[in-house]
Amino acid sequence: MDTARYEAAVVSPAVDDDPTAAVNRWVIGPMAALNRDILAGREPPDAFPAMVRHTVGPLLDAPERYGPRDSRQLLVLLGIVGAGLGRHFQERHPTHRATPERAFDVGVGAEPIGFLDYFRRLAEHSGTGHPHRDTYASLTRWNLPPSEAWWGGTRLAVLPGVFDDGALRTYTAAVDEVRFFELIKLSETFERAVNLAVGPLTEGGVDLLGAEALHRLGVAALLLEGMRKLNADFAALPPAEGLSAGHFMDVFRQFAVHWRPGDVPPSGALDPEALERDLVLGTEAPGFREHLHRMGPGLLPDERDRLAAVADAPGLTELVLQRCDPEDGLAQATQTQLRMLVGRFPVLAALHLVLQANARMSGVHLMLSKRYLFNPQRARDRSGFGDPGVVSNRRGTTGMDETALEHLTRVRQRHPLVALRALPTAELEALTGLAALRADAPGDLAATVGFDGAPALRRRPTADEQAGPVRPPGGTA
Ligand code: HEM
Repeated sequence: MDTARYEAAVVSPAVDDDPTAAVNRWVIGPMAALNRDILAGREPPDAFPAMVRHTVGPLLDAPERYGPRDSRQLLVLLGIVGAGLGRHFQERHPTHRATPERAFDVGVGAEPIGFLDYFRRLAEHSGTGHPHRDTYASLTRWNLPPSEAWWGGTRLAVLPGVFDDGALRTYTAAVDEVRFFELIKLSETFERAVNLAVGPLTEGGVDLLGAEALHRLGVAALLLEGMRKLNADFAALPPAEGLSAGHFMDVFRQFAVHWRPGDVPPSGALDPEALERDLVLGTEAPGFREHLHRMGPGLLPDERDRLAAVADAPGLTELVLQRCDPEDGLAQATQTQLRMLVGRFPVLAALHLVLQANARMSGVHLMLSKRYLFNPQRARDRSGFGDPGVVSNRRGTTGMDETALEHLTRVRQRHPLVALRALPTAELEALTGLAALRADAPGDLAATVGFDGAPALRRRPTADEQAGPVRPPGGTA
């Protein structure tokens, strides 16, 4: 093994005396190169633990000696390192899948102590309650630069990161992974903005029949439309700039291994904003609460607490239907009756537009999952190639299969206000004020979110706007 090639970031003369920065450099450069070389067969899998022991191990201080910023950064960095340890160990022999924890018999730190023990102490010391393995939160939200959603000069939402280097950390530094991580964090930023716009409607602070409710729902519908466009545009990227199905299945997903039997690896299914949206809108499928419970160990405690609070309150659809009380329900109503109803209660139409936008977003997500995973895996099964990886490509990381995702999409499509589809969308948009909002919205709704310092993705706010509260335009929250 060409050890020097994988040490460069640690022994380079440019190295300052910040050990976390040195680990960061190692992960971004040599570690990604080592992963690529192992996957290409140019290095043996056991080169990975050897290099972790040799390069990262000695850089690490006792976990309890780090401040909050370093401990969070190290949770991201060691999460990615741990994914490499786990994957390369399991790929060495099929029997290794039964004892995933043995991958981490690598001493790190001054004492030194085993990798899993080190990670656990670091997670506990961080004060974040971070689980004792990598998570959706550390891999995407903490890892990537801060992102924001802007609307007409108002900042609607911020998703911070824990690094200030403007970089992102990946397993192999392939453009596929960079784009995928960006898509995830930008989508979550959209979702956060949607939840901040809609959440107050379920909390009693906003009159459901008032103008502000219409405004908030209009913004939410357009944000969901922007998110859908972002995701659809992603699928349309030229192959050299986007994600290839092969990379997703054989490179990216294979790092989402178990660290201990039965633990919860990172997955889009752990996106707390998506879970919250389903709860707030009231579009949860049967069995959703059990699903939420299963996802619990992969979430941060503050995510779990927020979701538990939202889960205890009635969903928005239920609240709106209670206030509007359509006498015989919507399903049997004629077009004239529906028109009279939304004329009296425009909030029904505004919520319908949000639920429709949510269902369409779900449809695009289903398309992505089929395109990058389920369809190519079916082709592999037909050709006899099968499913040889250490992480199965026949289902998602947390076990959701194609049928489960189709079911979720169907539930979102058959929402309780679906009967309002009988009325033309343009009519509903005009009635609720969404048409006017759209006229003032950015031409490309996907560009309402962006990474901090990426002005191409959004209009830069003035200093006054930056100082303003985070709220939808015209809102009072
Ligand atoms: C190329 C893009 C994408 C692909 C191929 C993809 C694939 C998948 C797969 C296979 C699952 C099942 C997960 C499991 O069993 O653990 C899943 C679930 C999920 N993903 Fe994605 N995903 C993509 C993009 C996104 C994005 C951008 C988000 C939002 C941040 C997201 C959020 C979710 C959520 C919330 C679930 C749970 C199922 C649901 O609520 O519909 N995914 N995805």
